[in-house]
Order: sequence, then C-alpha cells, then structure tokens
Amino acid sequence: MDIKDRFAFLAEWYDPTACLLRRYQLFYYPNDNSVEMFDVKNQRIFLRRTKYGDLRKEDLFVGNRINVFSRQLNLVGYADRYTANKLGSKKERTLALLKPDGVLKIADILEIAKDAGLMVTNAKMTHLTWSQAADLYVEHQSKPFFNSLVHQVSSAPVVALELMGDDAVSIWRKLLGPSDVAAARKEAAHSVRGLFGTDDGRDVAHGSDSLAAAARELEFFFPTAICHGPPNTALYSDCTCCVIKPHAVSEGLTGKILNSIAAAGFHISALEMFNVDRANAEEFYEVYKGVVLEYTDMVTELSLGPCMVLEIHGADVAKAFREFCGPADPEIARHLRPTTLRAIYGTDKVKNAVHCTDLPEDAVLEVQYFFKILDG
Ligand code: TYD
Ligand code: MG
Repeated sequence: MDIKDRFAFLAEWYDPTACLLRRYQLFYYPNDNSVEMFDVKNQRIFLRRTKYGDLRKEDLFVGNRINVFSRQLNLVGYADRYTANKLGSKKERTLALLKPDGVLKIADILEIAKDAGLMVTNAKMTHLTWSQAADLYVEHQSKPFFNSLVHQVSSAPVVALELMGDDAVSIWRKLLGPSDVAAARKEAAHSVRGLFGTDDGRDVAHGSDSLAAAARELEFFFPTAICHGPPNTALYSDCTCCVIKPHAVSEGLTGKILNSIAAAGFHISALEMFNVDRANAEEFYEVYKGVVLEYTDMVTELSLGPCMVLEIHGADVAKAFREFCGPADPEIARHLRPTTLRAIYGTDKVKNAVHCTDLPEDAVLEVQYFFKILDG
C-alpha cells in the first residue's frame, strides 16, 4: 500500500469509566472510507480497519474533534509528515463577536462565514458586564471612544463564535470590512459591516486582529480550564427548548434554520453549541426509551458532533414552536405541513433537523439540562 492512501493522526479520548485520557494513532483511508486505531500505550490494535461512512476528509485536521463509533476523539497531532503537509496547512481559529446589533443578523452572518469556508466550532450567547467588555477591549483603554464602545457591547446580549478554517483570522477580518460603517458601505458593500452596519455607526461585529489576539479572546469566551467563561443568557421561564441536530449543523443548515425561526417571529433568548457525549444523550432522551422505536439512533445522532441549542422565549411558546417544527417524520411533514422546519430541513425520522420539547411541562427541564447541567 502506498502511504499516500492513508492519513495518520494522534488522537485522544477521555475514558469516563477509567477516568483516563487514552491515546491512539488513528489511520484514515480515503479510498474506502475506513478507519483503524492503534492503542499507543498498550501497543496493540484497538480497532481493526473498518469502514466508517460518517467520517469526512474535511473534518480531519489537528484541533478538531471527531466522532468514531460514538467516541469523541480530539485530534491532537499529525502522526506522519505526509499527513501534516497534506492536511495541516493553515487551519486557524478566530473569535467573531456579534455585538447587540449583530445578534439580530446572526442567521445571515453564519451564512456568510459558511460560504467563505469557515466552520463554527463553538458558540455562546452571553450578556457581558461593563468590566468584562472593558477587559475585552483593553487595548483601546486610552482612546476617546472607549466608554461608548464598552457601553454598547455590554448593553444587551452578544454572541461569541469560534470560527475555524484556513486563514480564519484574516478571512473573517476581510468578511467584516472596515469598522467605519460609512467606509464599509462604500468600499466593501458586501461585507458584514457594509451590509448590516447602522447609520449611527454601530459596526455589527468584532474579529480578532491576530493569532495572539484570537487565542486571548477565545480563552475569554471559551476557557479551556475548569473555570467558566461568561454565563449564558437562559431565562428558564416562558420558554421551550430547540436543538439543531448535529447532522443539520454539519450540513451547514444552522444559518438557514435560525433565519426561518426568526422569520416565524420566535425570539431566541439563549444560544450555545454543545458537544453531547453518548451518556448525556441517553439521559436527555430518557423519556423516549422503550417508547420511540428510534431511541438508540436518536442517541447516536445527538452524540455524533456539535449541536446548537436554543432557548425560545415567549408566553405559551412550547406548543406553537412544536407546531412550527412539524411532524417528527420529515416525509410526513413534507406531505402534511410543508412549511415546517422538519419538512424543509429534515432528512429522515432521526436526522429530522431539530429536536423540540414535546410536552410544555418538560420545556424548562430540557432548557435546564443544557444550559444549567451541561454548561455547569
Ligand atoms: P478598531 O480596532 O479600529 O476596529 P476593528 O474592530 O475593525 O479592529 O476599533 C475597535 C472598535 O472601536 C470598533 O468596533 C469600532 C470602535 N471605534 C469607534 O467607535 N470609534 C473610532 O473612532 C474607532 C477608531 C473605533
Ligand atoms: Mg481592532
């Protein structure tokens, strides 16, 4: 076999039963979509070469988290020079911060980022305090506009997005356009600021201006240590829970789904991306166990990659939102309720685009499961 038919990675998996971080060499064979895993410590084959259709070559790069047979593996290194040269190019992460005026445009902004090849790898809606916003903009501390800038960013919820892709830092800056909205409209009419900037100069969003700034700003919103970042904005009353499922997130449908939700008049009061492991997916879907035929497949789908969780806010919103999602089976939805989310974005009963709370009395519990327990 030619080495060019194989990509090699170092992967880590946290084994919750043994409380151990296990290390593997992971081989991926693009010709037939198969994977093989080798246990580094015990020097033995852990998974014999097996076909695994759910893995895509574009997901294979260091820094990404992938799912192999329901195990979430962190790719921490390239295990040979060929793979590093071929796939390691210029993957970067950057912070995109949607300011209060930009939050209203989140759906369009996600589409713009996706079309430029940037992937959302983390997301959180939060309401910054004055001093948190001041920390974030500390470089502008002595500028005359500092107070009004900090005031604006802390005046209402913002959405922090971690974007990943080739040259993510400079690509996102380019997509943003100049911070002077009048200039953006003239010089970069199709940029985020050119399209969505307001007459009073609000500039929609922020982007890290270097790799070092990106590292600092991402650590601020998505800390790697045990300490928590700024809190989410969930209200836990007059609400319902919506989960944009992993298949829809990975198909790049998040922006379109958020657009449909906003167009239907629903208000999003909290938003966060989660990586749900199998045990938590089982717990979340517990009430469907033994009741819904697809229970096991639903658990697998929810743990297959990141999902985007929303708290939808409004009086008696649970029933209305559930109707807007449509029948659980997208085939049936397309016949009976063709304008519903599942009719438009769903594939089958398991990959049906969104989960929403079934019984209004469970809504707060489901919202709490994500925003209190998993975000805990
Ligand atoms: P700056 O770092 O120049 O822009 P960018 O976000 O493109 O890196 O400015 C930071 C923020 O400060 C930006 O959101 C716009 C705001 N600002 C003002 O309000 N007034 C000003 O005169 C300048 C230069 C910036
Ligand atoms: Mg700047």
